[in-house]
Amino acid sequence: MKRVELELVSGLRVEFTDRERALGQVGEWAERGTRFPVVIFGPEGCGKSAFLRQVSAMLKELGFDVFYLHPLEWEFRAEVAVPDIRREFVQFVERALGENALGRVAWVALDFVRKLQKARRGRIAVVADDVFQAIGLDAVAAYVKALLNLIEYPASRYERMVVLVATSEGVSRREVGRHLWAEVAPMWNMSKEGFQQLYDKIPSPKPPFDEAWRLTGGNPRMLSRLYEALWNVEGVVSRLVDEKRFSAGFVARWRRWLEAAVEDPDALWSPDAPEELIDELEERNLIIYHMYRREEWAWIDQPPPEKDPEIGVGRRVAWHTPLHREALRRALQEM
Ligand SMILES: Nc1ncnc2c1ncn2[C@@H]1O[C@H](COP(=O)(O)OP(=O)(O)OP(=O)(O)O)[C@@H](O)[C@H]1O
Ligand SMILES: [Mg+2]
Repeated sequence: MKRVELELVSGLRVEFTDRERALGQVGEWAERGTRFPVVIFGPEGCGKSAFLRQVSAMLKELGFDVFYLHPLEWEFRAEVAVPDIRREFVQFVERALGENALGRVAWVALDFVRKLQKARRGRIAVVADDVFQAIGLDAVAAYVKALLNLIEYPASRYERMVVLVATSEGVSRREVGRHLWAEVAPMWNMSKEGFQQLYDKIPSPKPPFDEAWRLTGGNPRMLSRLYEALWNVEGVVSRLVDEKRFSAGFVARWRRWLEAAVEDPDALWSPDAPEELIDELEERNLIIYHMYRREEWAWIDQPPPEKDPEIGVGRRVAWHTPLHREALRRALQEM
C-alpha cells in the first residue's frame, strides 16, 4: 500500500508513519463497509487529518470511488470512475468556492454521492475532514443524519459504503453523540513506538527521544511546533498560553479546580467538579472529557494507556497533550 506524503513542517515532507492498527481497521471497513458513519475525534494535532488523507489513498487503491471533503483547506475531490460526475463536481466546486460557500459544497457533495449511487453499483467512500466547522454547529446532527441516509436509504443498491468524518471540535462530539446516527470513535496521539518512528525522521539537533515524548505525549503537531521553534519549549508554551486566551478572571475563578486538574485530570471527574469549567476546557480544546474505555474495538488505532500521569492521561479525563497542561500550569503561575 502506498503511503501518502505529508508536510510535517514547511520544507520537511515525511511519509505517513505508523498507525498500523488503524490501517488494519480501514482494511476491515473496506471489506464490510461502515454500518454507520464513523465520526473520529481526538486531541488537536493528533493526526486525524493525516489519517484521513492516508485512508482516502488506501480506499482508492482498493477500488473505491472516493469523495474527499476538507472545507477548511478548500479541498474537495471526487475521485470517481464516472467522468461526467467528476467533471460536474469540479465545476460545481469551482463556482461555489468563488462564492466562498464552503458549507454549501459540503452539503451538495452528498447529492453527488447519490448521483454516483444511481450511476454505478460500486464501492463508495465519503471522507470528510472538519466539515462541521464549515456547516455550523447547529447543522452537525442533520449532516450526520444525511450521511447515515446515504448508507441506509441509498439512491439505488450500492456494493459497499465507507463513511468517515473527523472533527477537531470537542463540542461537535457532544452534538453527534446525542443521537445514535453515527459511531463516535476516539483516536489518540501516536503510540510511543509509532511516535519514535516519526521522531527519527526529523533532523537533528533534537533532544533525546524520551524528552520529546514527555513534552508531546506522542502528538505530531506538537513535535513539529517544537522543531520549528528550535526546541525552545518556553516559547512554545507561551504561545499556547496566548492562543488559548487564559484570562486573569478565568484563572482566578477556577484556580482550585485547575490546580487539581494539572496534578491529575481525573480530578475533573469528581461529581462536584463544575460543569461550566469542564465545558470551557473542552471548548478550548484542552481536555478530552469522558475518555472511552481502553478496549481496542472502541478506538481507532491503539488506545492510550489506562492512566499515565507523566503525559496527562487520566482514566476518564485527559489533557490533549502535556504541553496543553503546561500552558495552563504557566497561566496559574503567572496570574
Ligand atoms: N502518522 C503520521 N505520519 C506523519 N505525519 C503525521 C502523522 N500524523 C500526523 N502527522 C502530521 O502532524 C501534523 C498534525 O497532524 P493533523 O493535522 O493530521 O492533526 P489533526 O488531528 O487533524 O489536527 P486538528 O485537530 O487540528 O484537525 C500534520 O503536519 C501532519 O501531517
Ligand atoms: Mg485536522
